[in-house]
Amino acid sequence: MTKIPAVLCVCLGNICRSPLAEAALRQAAAEAGVAMDIDSAGTGDWHLGRAPDPRSIAVAKHHGIDISGLKARLVEPDDFYKFSHIIVMDKSNLANVKALAPADATAKIAMLLGDHEVPDPYYGPDSAFDETWDLVNTGAKAFLASLQSRV
Ligand code: 4NP
Repeated sequence: MTKIPAVLCVCLGNICRSPLAEAALRQAAAEAGVAMDIDSAGTGDWHLGRAPDPRSIAVAKHHGIDISGLKARLVEPDDFYKFSHIIVMDKSNLANVKALAPADATAKIAMLLGDHEVPDPYYGPDSAFDETWDLVNTGAKAFLASLQSRV
């Protein structure tokens, strides 16, 4: 039996971008009828155990998804074996995750938007979170399509 894809979305704080990426991917997978394990994590420990940023919660709610129950956590060594894909938001996340990766990690590590970054909206206006949603939603759909094209 083929294992279902397991995808970990990663950003810095795990309160703005990666919870939205998790939500967008969950929604895209559900709409496409694709079974997938999806989670998110961060590489910075400032917000551990906290719910996503209220602005991310509001944007997800606007798109019909409740992410208020998520809790920020750190990327852990086990993640590099449990997940088939670790999808990061920007080049800094990519460097951080690669630095954490064990030498025999099995997860594929890539940026959600290929060569393009999902910019950090944390210090931006509320509208930055709408832009984040648009980017992670586009990326989630493209990622799903690329997975399906490989089946
Ligand atoms: P995220 O955004 O990486 O998209 O969750 C950030 C959230 C918090 C901080 C930085 C980025 N911070 O410095 O606390």
